[in-house]
Amino acid sequence: MTHPLRLGIAGLGTVGMGVLKILQEKQALLKRRTGRSIEITAVSARTKDKDRGMALNEYTWEEDPVKLAQRDDIDIFVELMGGQEGPALEATKTAIARGKDVVTANKAMLAHHGHALALQSEENGLVIRFEAAVAGGIPVIKSLTEGLAGNEITRVMGVMNGTCNYILTQMQATGRGYDALFKECADLGFLEADPNLDVGGIDAGHKLSLLSSIAFGTQVNFDKMELEGIQRVELEDIEQAADMGFRIKLLGVSQMTERGLEQRMSPCLVPQNSPLGELEGGTNMVVLEGDEVGQIFLRGAGAGQGPTSSAVISDIVEIARGTRLNTFGQPAHTLQKVRSALSFTPAPYYIRLSLLDKPGALAKIATVLGQAGVSIDRMRQYGHEDKIAPVLIVTHETVPQALDQALLQIPTTGVLDGTPVALRIENV
Ligand code: HSE
Repeated sequence: MTHPLRLGIAGLGTVGMGVLKILQEKQALLKRRTGRSIEITAVSARTKDKDRGMALNEYTWEEDPVKLAQRDDIDIFVELMGGQEGPALEATKTAIARGKDVVTANKAMLAHHGHALALQSEENGLVIRFEAAVAGGIPVIKSLTEGLAGNEITRVMGVMNGTCNYILTQMQATGRGYDALFKECADLGFLEADPNLDVGGIDAGHKLSLLSSIAFGTQVNFDKMELEGIQRVELEDIEQAADMGFRIKLLGVSQMTERGLEQRMSPCLVPQNSPLGELEGGTNMVVLEGDEVGQIFLRGAGAGQGPTSSAVISDIVEIARGTRLNTFGQPAHTLQKVRSALSFTPAPYYIRLSLLDKPGALAKIATVLGQAGVSIDRMRQYGHEDKIAPVLIVTHETVPQALDQALLQIPTTGVLDGTPVALRIENV
């Protein structure tokens, strides 16, 4: 296979320009590794007349990404525009209909349309690769699809949104609150155009849903994920959790159970001396558990020009080498329609309550927990000067439903001030 591989690249933002840069600067290296030239035929972006710091005049310019996807002189449509629907989806569908392989970084599009696109692509003998869509530069898709192909995957976990991890670790390190750090992220340009994608856990949830599909052989199912962002994480919880040996992370967990597929993305406590607990700043970490291999930890940059472009290039190289993998690691028509289950796997919980400081208050809370079948492991009442006593409880492992039952009952005791905070503890 010696003829050049011809690319059409749609989207010339940070990642698109990073891909162009690697293709220009590492032409010889990539040719050595693939045995063929990789050429850019045409490009497309929203604005043509913009200084991107690199000459684009050797490539044909297409105003419309759909026109780019239709060109007979491209082999791969490289979709780096982003967006769940709209031009990205239309152009991707068009590219597949016109017989092109697709490389994309678009987690939102794949989380919502990945199964349909995979079916369409595989029916036509084509491939869709998306290493850059999950955890930026970390080769997690290739690890799961290829490196762990001989394993039953038992669990997938990960911190996969760098912005959230930055906010949470900075709250801990500097004692600043969520609002101040959210603003700092906005000023630093860390936030997605719709910040709720980041802080609402949606971006990380999209990524987890793609990993679940490969890990468990199921059709991508983002809509049934239990999803909670970091907006309600308070400095007090960060500090109290730290005092008890934990860190708070926006953690994704996906596992197949007898009841169905559990997928949740939510703020959780993890031991501070664990690999996840020690993860600082914008870094990502994915934990993959296989029945043969045990646990493996993949850690690295989850965003940014170099890391994300590196992942895009790895997919282009894969296709250039002639490797043709199914989108989700097995033929799309064999992926099972997922039976989703609400989390039922037991875990310990951290509960923070503000109690009226009067005789019997704590006993009432302990009674309610006991009646719901929730057993207390550790408990502590900490410094207070007024009539409100802050109390922390760490429970033994309990099913979430028992905890929910207790949380419903606690306000009826009449000894509570405000709303209790409850966070799951994942002992990774
Ligand atoms: N906004 C994401 C993050 C990167 O902060 O990790 C792109 O998914």
